[in-house]
Amino acid sequence: MTLDDLMFKPGLLAGRRYLVTGGGSGLGRVMSEALLLLGADVYICGRRAPVLEETAAELMHLHGGRVIAKTCDIRHDTQITEMLDEIWADGGALDGLINNAAGNFVSRTEDLSPRAFDAISNIVFRGSFCMTLECGKRWLAEGKSASVLSILTTWVWNGSPFTVPSAMSKAGLHAMTQSLAVEWAGRGIRFNAIAPGLFPTEGMSARLNPGGGEHKAERNPMDRNGRMPELANLAAYLMGPGSEYVNGQTIAIDGAQFQATGGNFSRMSQWQDEDWKRARESIAGRDAQ
Ligand code: HXC
Repeated sequence: MTLDDLMFKPGLLAGRRYLVTGGGSGLGRVMSEALLLLGADVYICGRRAPVLEETAAELMHLHGGRVIAKTCDIRHDTQITEMLDEIWADGGALDGLINNAAGNFVSRTEDLSPRAFDAISNIVFRGSFCMTLECGKRWLAEGKSASVLSILTTWVWNGSPFTVPSAMSKAGLHAMTQSLAVEWAGRGIRFNAIAPGLFPTEGMSARLNPGGGEHKAERNPMDRNGRMPELANLAAYLMGPGSEYVNGQTIAIDGAQFQATGGNFSRMSQWQDEDWKRARESIAGRDAQ
């Protein structure tokens, strides 16, 4: 991606500082790159230090600027607090947070255990809330304006069979977006969310299209998947100056796939026992890497 792929003037976000959870790879990396290109300092956090360090080095090599890698598992409250202490000490209050970190895999719901539910919900639902709360308390105490963006899916409107813990967790963040948009609006903190359709990433394809190779646009009315700069532009718009009156919205960017098909995994109703066995083995193989 280059500045030419973005809709905005150079330096739009100069002097601003943002945190992107799960910013080392996938959509988080794409959005981090866009914020960096527009002049912001970007903190990226995740569980895997080598991945984060490599992404930070690559992005700075490509574009200059400042990307700071922070190892933080958002399932652990103390890691969140320690990381935010470091970030605040590094340059004061953040200007925004992107709740992007997620975990997901396709499974028949009857095959899940309580631990499997926790594996997803502790990242997506609880982890994102705790991160938002910790940032929010700091912003409120300092009277600082900020923008929070959560990366959801269109399933927040219609649920998703075969990814029920994710659908429940993301629906929870949709409710958080609507609720806190009102509760903290008067104090300058706004909340929005993006519900992306298919923007294939390696991690997503491995867990949601196991063994299926590259994710293809299926029955998308525009007959294609999303392009990363399209997502990056929307994220930059919602994080930046000029969109302040947009608050409490979850915005789909999916070529109208949701309207056309519901956008979820209902097609897997056709799968047989063998298909589910293969899927689970394929996901386990990916996670062992
Ligand atoms: C059923 C499964 C399973 C599977 C794990 N479990 N995989 N159950 N089917 N395929 C169960 C295990 O048996 C175990 O329960 C419990 O879940 C925890 O397993 P662990 O392997 O210990 O989990 P963990 O190490 O926490 O890793 C799971 C994970 C991991 C957190 C989800 O895959 C991960 O790190 N993912 C992050 C990246 C990612 O998922 N990206 C894709 C996001 S895409 P028992 O009871 O047996 O101990 C996304 C949006 C997509 O979110 C939008 C598309 C349009």
